Amino acid sequence: MKTRIVKSTLVNLRLAARLIKSGEVVAFPTETIYGLGADAFNREAVRKIFAAKGRPSDNPVIVHISSFDMLKDVAIAPRGFEEIARKFWPGPVTFILPKRELVPVEVTGGLDTVAVRMPDNKITLKLIELSGVPIAAPSANTSTRPSPTSVGHVLDDLDGKIPLVIDGGASKHGVESTVIRVDGRDAVVYRLGALSLEDLEKVFSKVSFISKTDVARSPGVKYKHYAPSVPVVFVTGDAAKKINAQLTSKAVVFCSKKLNVKCKQVVVLDSKVAARKLFGFLRSSEKNFDLIFVCERPERGLGRTFNERARRAASLII
Ligand code: TXA
Ligand code: MG
Repeated sequence: MKTRIVKSTLVNLRLAARLIKSGEVVAFPTETIYGLGADAFNREAVRKIFAAKGRPSDNPVIVHISSFDMLKDVAIAPRGFEEIARKFWPGPVTFILPKRELVPVEVTGGLDTVAVRMPDNKITLKLIELSGVPIAAPSANTSTRPSPTSVGHVLDDLDGKIPLVIDGGASKHGVESTVIRVDGRDAVVYRLGALSLEDLEKVFSKVSFISKTDVARSPGVKYKHYAPSVPVVFVTGDAAKKINAQLTSKAVVFCSKKLNVKCKQVVVLDSKVAARKLFGFLRSSEKNFDLIFVCERPERGLGRTFNERARRAASLII
């Protein structure tokens, strides 16, 4: 299959919407990362997403909507939900809600809940609106690989496997949405993401994490994720000493401050930018280096999301 790359003009968005409506998959930008989408009500189309990505079928995908009206066919929103959701939507927060019957098991991995998000990106919203259906979409990468934050990343993994990619430039957040379940006035976090815990705490009385024993309710957590083709070492504590002990001649280091390491390639970025750049860094590094060191950041704001993603990308933690 030839993969077409198109700009986000209205004509091209109409073409993409026609593909979605006819049961095809399309890769598109969102404000978090690029998604690979299909009509959420069309089980055959959703299966194509899993096939292109090589994704395990019990790992459910997020349903993207462009209006609250669309939510009605997808999920059962409890009383007061819209008021809470409006504080975050459109935006990088995904809510877990009881699902409606119309949503096939292919989307929810057999769960009785569905993950829903209204993205804060004009291209995505227009595509959903033109398609006239909610769009089920995981990240537009091969399963286990770092998430895609540019069209180049999508093509690295899916060229020849999907008919169309819409180019929306570099992703604004560069890291996925924060996935939560609302429980009364509290929130339970299923996945850290582009919206920090501190920001959730401004809205909810209590913010807690899904317990480790509850992973059946968040299937994505159990799978390997975000790993480039060369090993990643996640470095905690006194980084310089630990890195110097393990260096190879073709290693690269990603950290928050200058380090006394005997390595020519050191990338220093603050935590906010770092979370946005991590996936891109892993993808460019795999082409030029044989070992990637990523240093732990303070567990604050997006530093927490960064650490979680980097830990999961790592084959070794030192
Ligand atoms: O920012 C994002 O969230 C991006 C863009 C494309 O919207 N999407 C994304 O999708 O990251 P994906 O499939 O890579 O991650 C979805 C996460 C997985 O960890 C999955 O297990 C979880 O959401 N999830 C989906 N439906 C769920 C459900 N019903 N219950 C619990 N977790 C669910
Ligand atoms: Mg993903």
